[in-house]
Amino acid sequence: MSQDQNSYNIYSMELGPMENFVYLIHDKASDKAAIVDPAWEVEEMLDLADSKGIQITDILLTHSHNDHVNGLQKTLEHSDATIHLLKPEAKFWGANLSQPVLHHGGDQIKIGDSQINVLHTPGHTPGSACYHVGNDLIAGDTLFVFGCGRCDLAGGDPEEMFQTLKKMKTELPAATVLHPGHNYAPQAPTSTLENQCQGNPFLHFDKPADFVKYRMHVHDKIRETPYEAVSKQQALDAIK
Ligand SMILES: [Fe+2]
Repeated sequence: MSQDQNSYNIYSMELGPMENFVYLIHDKASDKAAIVDPAWEVEEMLDLADSKGIQITDILLTHSHNDHVNGLQKTLEHSDATIHLLKPEAKFWGANLSQPVLHHGGDQIKIGDSQINVLHTPGHTPGSACYHVGNDLIAGDTLFVFGCGRCDLAGGDPEEMFQTLKKMKTELPAATVLHPGHNYAPQAPTSTLENQCQGNPFLHFDKPADFVKYRMHVHDKIRETPYEAVSKQQALDAIK
């Protein structure tokens, strides 16, 4: 709807056995694009770009987990594209990438006329990133529709995740459209930050210790995908 006023389109595909989303941020004026988290049957997205005459110039990684990067090689064989990720994620991952651009939070990436802001959002992994373009946020495994990324895997940190989500809640406009890294949504695969503030249990806690308890010890025992909305009272009752 609002896309016509933007300098870009966002295409999304749900691919693979883990409901991963692969995104394409297409700058309309230049027909250049960034692919985000190339994985699984990524050739479907590469074919879509080809069919529309779109050149993939950049690859943005939200984080280094295999289910988000296992199409990297195929993408590099298809397009002579530059890889972008955060410096702490590159260090955490340790992969031997060919000439990646290593970012810090606050950096900007330009695809033609479209400017993408890089947010450092640690918690799921040390160098997790969200990519903010116009009114859209490509969030990787930091924030899902009514969910958030696990913090119990290597490099995860629930206290950092609490701070990350608090910052997102306070600093991003309520109308921001969330494009998550997995489709765990009950209905529409996207949502606004405003709707998430109302129904995402991970955005309901004011105290770090409450968040940590819910994320690490309660959530996985009481919820499964697709995630339905949870009220603040329900979230607080769950950790009693
Ligand atoms: Fe992940």
